[in-house]
Formats: sequence, structure tokens, C-alpha cells
Amino acid sequence: MKLLKPMIFLFCLVPLARLIWLGAYDGLGANPIEFITRSTGTWALVFLCITLAMTPLRLITGLSAWIKLRRMLGLFCFFYACIHFLIWFWLDQNLDLQSMWNDVVKRPFITMGFLTLVLLTPLALTSNQWSVRQLGRRWTILHKLVYLIACTAILHYWWHKAGKNDLDTVSIYGAIILLLLICRIPIVRNILQRKRNSVT
Ligand code: HEM
Repeated sequence: MKLLKPMIFLFCLVPLARLIWLGAYDGLGANPIEFITRSTGTWALVFLCITLAMTPLRLITGLSAWIKLRRMLGLFCFFYACIHFLIWFWLDQNLDLQSMWNDVVKRPFITMGFLTLVLLTPLALTSNQWSVRQLGRRWTILHKLVYLIACTAILHYWWHKAGKNDLDTVSIYGAIILLLLICRIPIVRNILQRKRNSVT
């Protein structure tokens, strides 16, 4: 675990390194803003899915190592979501707060993206041991927001693609998230746990 965590940390930086590399060598295509927004949005969603997969993986394998990676992976989701938002705010909205707000209230898919980022923020800010100690039981309740975040993130993506009649990829992400959320239902948790116990 000692070596695994830093290795995974470096691995999580690969999407960012790739964007920097492509940017430096003129590889971002005809519309670099769109390329970066899409790439960072996709990676934020991928990290959200991986973070949500940690609990089912612990239940299936019985290894607590998965949970030790959860915080770092969740923070990478927030990290890529912040870059995604900042690129849009800077290059699309010219850092104009009024223009940003107009777009947030005008376009439902932007509303959902914004809501997702707003909901992610308290989770990222309280993802440290100090907050866990200070908040006690309230920490667990607060972090249940991740289920709502999974839904708003998919709605954001869905709305974006619905206008373009291109729902294939978003349907796959939607199915993965649905499956990961089903694993949280107590009866399903028990089945997964019992299955493991009968194997070991
Ligand atoms: C304030 C917050 C957000 C804003 C303003 C925003 C804005 C956008 C915009 C403008 C696009 C379209 C890019 C394009 O096709 O040119 C987009 C796509 C996307 N966003 Fe967001 N977003 C936000 C938050 C998020 C969050 C938190 C996530 C994930 C957790 C996310 C995931 C995605 C995904 C997966 C796409 C589609 C990428 C693709 O087309 O392949 N976004 N977002």
C-alpha cells in the first residue's frame, strides 16, 4: 500500500499531463477549448465512478485497501471538475461572473454541472481526518451527498448529449452509476458480503 498509493496518485495525473503535452505540441484539434472541457469533464466523471466503486470492491474482496484509496480518488474527481469549470469560466465566459450566472440559469445542462460542482465542494473540503473527527456522525450524513452528485453529474452529461442526439456513451456511464448505487442498497450489500464469506 505504501508504494501503491503514490503510484496511483501519479497515474491519476496522466490525463492532465496528456492535455499539457497535447497543448504544447499543437495536438488539441481545431477547437482546443471544447477538447479540454470535454476531456476534463469526462475524467471528473470517470473518477466519480471509480470512487463510487471502492465500497462495492471492499464488500466483494473484503480488502480495506480500497477504502484507503477512496479519498484520493474523490479528490481527483473534484480536481478535474474544477479544471473543467475554470476552463469554461475563463475561456468561454471571460471570467465574467454575471455572464456565468446568466448561462447557469439559462441552460439546464450548465445548471446541473454547476450544481454538481457546488455539491462536490463541501465533500472535498471535509475529506480530511480533522473534519471526520469534528463532524462525527454528521460527516457520514454529509458524504451521502455523493449519491445525489452521481445523479446530477449524469443529468448534466445527459442533457448536454440529448441536444445532439448522441446518448450512447452517456447511457453506458448511466448504467455503471446505477449499478454502483444499487450495490449500496442494504439488501444488495448483504448479498455481496455473504457471497464473500461463503467463498473465504
Ligand atoms: C460549474 C460546473 C460545470 C460547468 C460550467 C460545466 C460545463 C460543461 C460544458 C460547457 C460542457 C460541454 C463541452 C463541449 O462539448 O464543448 C460540459 C461537458 C461535460 N461535463 Fe461539465 N460542467 C460542469 C461540471 C461538471 C462536473 C462536476 C462533471 C462531472 C463530475 C462534468 C462532466 C461533464 C461531462 C462528462 C461532459 C461531456 C464530455 C463530452 O462531451 O464528452 N461537468 N460541461
